[in-house]
Amino acid sequence: MSAGPAGPADRGGPAGEGRFVTLEGGEGSGKSTLMLALAARAREAGRTVVTTREPGGTPLGERLREALLGSQQAPSPQAELLVFAAARAELVARVIRPALEQGALVLSDRYADSTVAYQQYGRGLAPELVSAAIESATGGLTPVLTLLLDIAPELGIARSGAAGDYLERDGLEFHARVRDGYRALAERDPGRWATLDATLPPDALAALAWERLSAVLLTSPSAK
Ligand code: TYD
Repeated sequence: MSAGPAGPADRGGPAGEGRFVTLEGGEGSGKSTLMLALAARAREAGRTVVTTREPGGTPLGERLREALLGSQQAPSPQAELLVFAAARAELVARVIRPALEQGALVLSDRYADSTVAYQQYGRGLAPELVSAAIESATGGLTPVLTLLLDIAPELGIARSGAAGDYLERDGLEFHARVRDGYRALAERDPGRWATLDATLPPDALAALAWERLSAVLLTSPSAK
């Protein structure tokens, strides 16, 4: 996934009016496919779009991703929390904040809510510990819109194919807790979250997501 600013033909968003939008969901929920579709539509609408993903999106972040997801042995929950946070700190500082300052629409495949869903709800780490790591990495930068691609874990895992990293090999109970976590987050903050049925056909899903995204592009400036 590209993480640099979009090409010159895509420039066009007025300075200082960036929008930060994230995609969240469990394994095999189709976030990356949806992100590409949304980025294309937004560019057609004349927006400058920067797409990125977590963990990763910067040279250091991609190395951290490889170190974490490439390892056979699952890390301790504390180490896992801090590596995701470190990759995020780099991404926020080097990509997301600068792009928002330039007026871009930043679309990120995962962000801080992944840490709440996976490390807090999934692993059972204390909320204060998780919040502190997120605050340290993001300085409070929060998306204006988060699209949750909701899917039953057994379905998502089957869709994502052969088990890749250690997280995909975690049990169904773990992934069910992650899903519950996402749903709890979405219920608590319906102004920011839009929950979408990830089993819809890709075109229908993209149309629904675009409805929410275009509303955000037309209204209030994004990030805090
Ligand atoms: P990835 O291959 O990008 O999975 P997906 O296509 O499902 O996004 O791997 C990212 C994995 O890392 C995924 O299992 C979710 C997990 N993760 C966390 O546990 N905490 C986090 O903060 C982030 C960003 C990701």
